[in-house]
Amino acid sequence: MDWGLQNRMARFIKSATGHTVMLAADHGYFMGPTRRLEDPRSTLEPLLPYADAIAVTRGVLRHSIPATSDVPIVLRVSGGVTVLKEDLSDEAITTSMEEALRLNVSAVALSVFVGAPHEHDSLVSLAELVDEGEALGMPVMAITAVGKELEKRDARYLSLACRVSAELGAHMVKTYYCENFEKVVEGCPVPLVVAGGPKLDTDRSVLELCAGAIEKGAIGVDMGRNIWQSDHPVAMIKAIRAIVHEKATVREALQTLTASKKTSGPAASLPS
Ligand code: R5P
Repeated sequence: MDWGLQNRMARFIKSATGHTVMLAADHGYFMGPTRRLEDPRSTLEPLLPYADAIAVTRGVLRHSIPATSDVPIVLRVSGGVTVLKEDLSDEAITTSMEEALRLNVSAVALSVFVGAPHEHDSLVSLAELVDEGEALGMPVMAITAVGKELEKRDARYLSLACRVSAELGAHMVKTYYCENFEKVVEGCPVPLVVAGGPKLDTDRSVLELCAGAIEKGAIGVDMGRNIWQSDHPVAMIKAIRAIVHEKATVREALQTLTASKKTSGPAASLPS
């Protein structure tokens, strides 16, 4: 791996632990103004000090993250379809590598849709992006998207999607946590982070997901709704950090969460 590419990845994969807590806030690119991300700036501002990276589109980056911020950016560069369409796999590259360099981001990310109608296009986009990224020192993260088919989130499917992404050159992969997640990790030669998915019912479930993923070999999380849709987003991200970076157990992380709730207070704005 070339020095520049390695250096970019080291900005958000912390050398002290080899782990990362990435905050995902790119949902609007196909979901519109998602609950509690209606105003990304006010949602993200209190969380920036606790995120090792923020995953956003160029629109949210320019409008909602101060250019003076030193938080590393993972830039979503694929899109072109919305939740109003049945087939969410009809994506293409929507942001150029030149723009990614201009925005001084630390990595670019695109969704790959293994087994979906536009599987081929998304995989070719990944391979082309990797060629550009290798030439310019820009890491590429593949996101194994499942669209509306949540039942695809089993170890067999995710192992295939992650391995294919790595074989095509992705420098890291974002996927979903699942039963037998260790099988997904075993078959994937590049670092894996997990998304959180839709908001879970309890804080404990969120922390158990994080702890399970780390224990089974993920290097971290790239999580959104389970942080910023929480009534106490700062407390939640601190508890997740305890698991990812400090090897806290779920019990210890719950204690961190309870203590932080008292000091950090609720989310800035809490629409129902
Ligand atoms: C899809 O919208 C994006 O890739 C999200 O960044 C990803 O799903 C992670 O966010 P969440 O934890 O809310 O699922």
